[in-house]
Amino acid sequence: MKKRVLVIVSGGIAAYKSCDIVRRLQDAGCDVRVCMTADATQFVGPITFEALSHHPVLTNLFDFPESPNPHIMMASWADLCLVCPATADIMAKVASGIADDCASTTVLAFHTPVLFAPAMNVHMWQDAATQANVQLLRERGYGFIMPTSGLLACGDVGEGKLADVPEIVGCVLKVLESKRDLAGKRILVNAGPTHEAIDSVRYIANASSGKMGFSIAEAALDRGAEVVLVAGPCPLPTPEGAERIDVVSAQDMYDACTAAFERCDAAICSAAVADYTPRAKADHKLKKSVEHIESIELVETKDILAELCRTKGTRIVCGFAAETNDLVEYAQAKRERKGADMIVANDVSRSESTFGSDTNHVSLVTAAGVEELPTMPKPQVANAILDRISALLSERA
Ligand code: CTP
Repeated sequence: MKKRVLVIVSGGIAAYKSCDIVRRLQDAGCDVRVCMTADATQFVGPITFEALSHHPVLTNLFDFPESPNPHIMMASWADLCLVCPATADIMAKVASGIADDCASTTVLAFHTPVLFAPAMNVHMWQDAATQANVQLLRERGYGFIMPTSGLLACGDVGEGKLADVPEIVGCVLKVLESKRDLAGKRILVNAGPTHEAIDSVRYIANASSGKMGFSIAEAALDRGAEVVLVAGPCPLPTPEGAERIDVVSAQDMYDACTAAFERCDAAICSAAVADYTPRAKADHKLKKSVEHIESIELVETKDILAELCRTKGTRIVCGFAAETNDLVEYAQAKRERKGADMIVANDVSRSESTFGSDTNHVSLVTAAGVEELPTMPKPQVANAILDRISALLSERA
């Protein structure tokens, strides 16, 4: 069956771009309906959208030929609602629950994904009230296709330009295709390396890029989860919508993860946490005063994965194991020793799954057995891991 999209057009000059978006969504196989605010009809006539969509356009709740409750009808008809362009006004209304016209009432009636594609003057966009509304809407699970910077219709230059049409269409299709099986779940993901200080400028680290954990965070967000991403030092951009907590050392990561796990349903420990840390950390830069340093004494770090497993109750905890030989045996032993529900076993002797690569070759080790996955890009591996986490969460529900 065709995917159904409701496009809500609010009153901004970028409204003309929504004509193209309607066409492109149809080209991609979607059935599209349109709802317009009164202000939007000042920019583009409803007849244009009616001709493009082959459906009556909703502009007035009390005068719609197909239903006496058009807002409810639209909300139950559509698989997704795109508010484009989204003005400061429509976002403020939805954020405060105001339903005083056909657009705001319809958004409120939606229970499937709603995406906002904002467009407005740079100062209106940067206004504290607008930013607070965006933040609030995100926390409530609304999606955003963020505006870009450039020359705005009013002549100002800055942020507030509607995202590019292909990007908007791509986002809509991605959300339509994505599973929403993790909606209502909050997942803790840790990622990246840790840095263990020797003195105030030197540290012991490892080569983890953080890519696998960041891919998991992004995929979980796409599937509707809230994500707390505890990240060791790595320069990757924060996946849109994630709550990121940056940490440096294994101890910092332990503190952040144990605290965050209290409000999560599952944890995925992909971070390459240092197993050892220097016993003494000089609070100043050590001088090169001797010819050679005999040794740096290292002490064991706290095991985050083991601690989360100890306190998890019926929640799900998944760890990683990087091995070079006897992959599955070591991973199964690690799973049992730490009490994890699943271990993602990673053969780091293979070129396609070394630290920093864009692909990974893993086996998923659970109490039920072992599943070896083919070599895949990390975002696909992330989704395969989440398929198992989702199944484990449903089993425990
Ligand atoms: N881990 C952790 N806290 C640590 C060390 C590791 O949470 N202080 C987690 C990693 O995030 C990963 C898993 O444990 O999920 C990796 O197992 P690890 O303990 O590093 O393997 P080892 O027990 O050290 O086994 P090995 O001898 O193979 O290194």
